[in-house]
Amino acid sequence: ATILMLNGPNLGLLGLREPAIYGHDTLEDVEAACRDALQGTGHELDAFQTDHEGAMLERVHAARQDADAVVINAGAWTHTSIALLDALSAFEGPVVEVHISQVHRREAFRHHSYVSARADAVIVGCGVQGYEFAVLRVARLLD
Ligand code: DQA
Repeated sequence: ATILMLNGPNLGLLGLREPAIYGHDTLEDVEAACRDALQGTGHELDAFQTDHEGAMLERVHAARQDADAVVINAGAWTHTSIALLDALSAFEGPVVEVHISQVHRREAFRHHSYVSARADAVIVGCGVQGYEFAVLRVARLLD
């Protein structure tokens, strides 16, 4: 089956952006690690990053046809976007939410997630390893 990994705003700068919080691995490194983690499971990874909310909504809509599960780090839209929650609610497969940092130890505005209202699991504060945990979790849910 196809697992779609979605990354929202500023996550294209992973590895460069606030490395003390988000680490030194790039998004490419993360995607490669997730593909490795899925080796032998029979599942494959598709990945998409955008800084445009409408483009993200349209990618989630398309996932209704071309993906079986979603792993999403919505970045700051996590805390702002009811539209993204609604788009994810229209997707029928498993959804796992990832945050690299331990958002509950950070500013209060990062403590609430609209995405969590739809997510089957939430992985927070595991660094970029959280993406590997998330793809393995959705692989299990798909089996
Ligand atoms: C983040 C946490 C968000 O609060 C922030 O806006 C991000 C990254 C994380 O992965 O820890 O862009 O989702």
